[in-house]
Amino acid sequence: MSLLSDTARKDFPIFEGLVNGHKLVYLDNAATTLKPKQVVDRISKYYLYESSNVHRGVHFLSDQGTKNFENARKTIQNYIHAPSDEEILFNKGTTDSINFIAQTYGWQYLNEGDEVLISEVEHHSNIVPWQILAERKKIVVKKFDVSDDYAVLLSNFKSALSDRTKIVSFTHISNTLGIVMPVKELADLAHKAGSIVVVDGAQAVAHMNVNVQDLGCDFYTFSSHKIYGPTGFGVLFGKKEILQTLNPYQGGGGIIDKVTFEKTTFIDAPFRFEPGTPHIEGALGLEAAIQYVLSLGLDRIAHHEMMLTEKVFSELKTIPQVVLYGSQLHRGAIVSFNVKGAHPSDVGSLLDNYGVAVRTGHHCTQPLMQKLQVPGTVRASFAVYNTPEEIDFFIESLKKVIGLLKC
Ligand code: ALA
Repeated sequence: MSLLSDTARKDFPIFEGLVNGHKLVYLDNAATTLKPKQVVDRISKYYLYESSNVHRGVHFLSDQGTKNFENARKTIQNYIHAPSDEEILFNKGTTDSINFIAQTYGWQYLNEGDEVLISEVEHHSNIVPWQILAERKKIVVKKFDVSDDYAVLLSNFKSALSDRTKIVSFTHISNTLGIVMPVKELADLAHKAGSIVVVDGAQAVAHMNVNVQDLGCDFYTFSSHKIYGPTGFGVLFGKKEILQTLNPYQGGGGIIDKVTFEKTTFIDAPFRFEPGTPHIEGALGLEAAIQYVLSLGLDRIAHHEMMLTEKVFSELKTIPQVVLYGSQLHRGAIVSFNVKGAHPSDVGSLLDNYGVAVRTGHHCTQPLMQKLQVPGTVRASFAVYNTPEEIDFFIESLKKVIGLLKC
């Protein structure tokens, strides 16, 4: 039976080339996924045959462009099962979204002494925006401990909640450890405590079915480039009843009802939050990426990636010099490890000699590295085009690297 990767690989011309004399084994998908032809073709089509601005013209190209752009919003809405396309905001990506929430909702609704609760595995993009808000509003940023045992995780979370918790913000899947968080349960508990819930879905949307209604979050965000789409573009889902109450984040054209030198009034979400010419090809490219993912089938993608992840995890466990982080259970398509006695960067650079691309370092999770008491880890992360043969080659190359490093 042919594997999903056999179908997918032909859409990624990057595999035709060699890296350091070897076939590319791209295991850095959590940093960014490779792009299929379908996405690049859609972007080229826009630039070559459809170039125009949106929401601004009465001429044919602009009118058609606006329809295509807004259709992309609907495709994205349906993909994450949001109730309305008015709840889908376009921006630069996950980092932009969290800054947006901090500087709109956080700025408007939090008062001195209020708390923002995040997990200990968060990416810097879900730590630093809250710290900036904390400086300005004298609020408190608290963390809860994440355990491989969900019962412990939930009780840690419960005890970290307080009547001052106003925002709970955590990742759907940890970019470093690959842990899948129990979003629904955490969201229920947070809501009972009177807090809103923000979920960073950057590492989830390309790998599993995401239903924002089912998860029960108030905000959900992701970046296009981690789901086979273009860079510099992202999405924020926000519940309408919250978005309607928020002031604009940035000023400019395209968000206004009426401007005078004395006063400006604004239109409703989502356009109230999208000043300036938007990233049109970003929306069209992401739509093509979503259509691509749906054509392969999310369930099949999840199944394929889990098969690869379990294979890597099981094989790494048999190498005595390897230390693995995070449990094998509740895991996304990400595996983090170290080689005893070796710096992760050395392991990564030597793997590169074999054409194997992994990420090394702190993965923008320095507080987690401090907890693990390591300078960084080596991270292998998987996507639909990765094959079991690539995993064999990666493990074989790693064993050679361990030999070279004399660990
Ligand atoms: N956030 C991305 C990663 O984890 C860049 O690699």
